[in-house]
Amino acid sequence: MWPYPKIVAHRGGGTLAPENTVAGLRAGVAYGFRAVEFDVMLSRDGIGMVVHDPAFGRTIAGQGSVAHTDAVDLAAMDAGSWFGAEFRDEPVPFFTQFIDYCKAQRIWMNVEIKPADGFEAETGAWVAKITRDNYAGELAGGDPAGYPLLSSFSFDALAAARDAAPELPRGYLLDKIPAECQVQAKQLGAVAIHTNQKHLTPALAAQIKAAGYGLFCYTVNDPARGREILSWGVDGFCTDRIDLIGPAFT
Ligand code: G3P
Ligand code: MG
Repeated sequence: MWPYPKIVAHRGGGTLAPENTVAGLRAGVAYGFRAVEFDVMLSRDGIGMVVHDPAFGRTIAGQGSVAHTDAVDLAAMDAGSWFGAEFRDEPVPFFTQFIDYCKAQRIWMNVEIKPADGFEAETGAWVAKITRDNYAGELAGGDPAGYPLLSSFSFDALAAARDAAPELPRGYLLDKIPAECQVQAKQLGAVAIHTNQKHLTPALAAQIKAAGYGLFCYTVNDPARGREILSWGVDGFCTDRIDLIGPAFT
C-alpha cells in the first residue's frame, strides 16, 4: 500500500531553509533525508515552478502572482530573503530543476500539484506529463518504490494528471476526510489518501487502511504525535522539523 519512504521533508527542507527552494533540498540531504514533498504551480507561460502561495507577499516580496508572471521572471525573483539574509537571491526553482536535483541525489518526490484558481486541469496535466517524461526509465523498471507520487487537494488537477499519465501514482489530499472520499479516490485511481494529521482519528485511519489505501499525513512536527499516528497504521508523514524527526524515525 505504501512502498515509499515513511518520513518526508515538507516543502523541501521544512523549517531549516526557505521552503520550496534548492537550498531546502540541500538542507534535507544534510539531515539524511532522501524523500521530499514540494508544491508546483504554473507560471503565466505555463511552466511548472516550485512555489506554495499563488500571490506574492510572503516568500516572494512585492505584489503580483505566479499565474500572472512568466517563468523566467519568477526564476529571477528572490525566494530566500524572507527566511534569512544568507538565503538572499535563492530563486524560485523550475520544477525540472527539482527533478534534476532529486534524480542526482536519489531523492524520492511527492509532488503536490498546487494549481492557481482556474488552472486546475492544466496544472495537473502539465505536472503529470513532465514527471512521466523524466521518469520513463523508472516507470519502465516496474518498481513502484521508485515512482514519484503526485498529490493534490484539487480533484480536477488529479483527474487531469490521471488522464495525462495514468501510470503515475496519485494521492488524494484532504484536510478532513469526508464520508464520500473513497468514491472520489476511486474515480481518481488514487493509491493513497493524504490528510491533515490534526483531524485524523484511529477509526478514520483504520477505515482508510481497510479500504486498501496508503495513508499519509501532513505536517507532523512533534515526535510524540508522529509515534501516535504511526501506531494507528499511518504509513508515512511529512515534517517541517527535519532536525527533530529524522528519516529513520519510528
Ligand atoms: O502535501 C501535504 C502538504 O504540503 C499540504 O499542505 O499547504 O503545506 O502544501 P501545504
Ligand atoms: Mg504542499
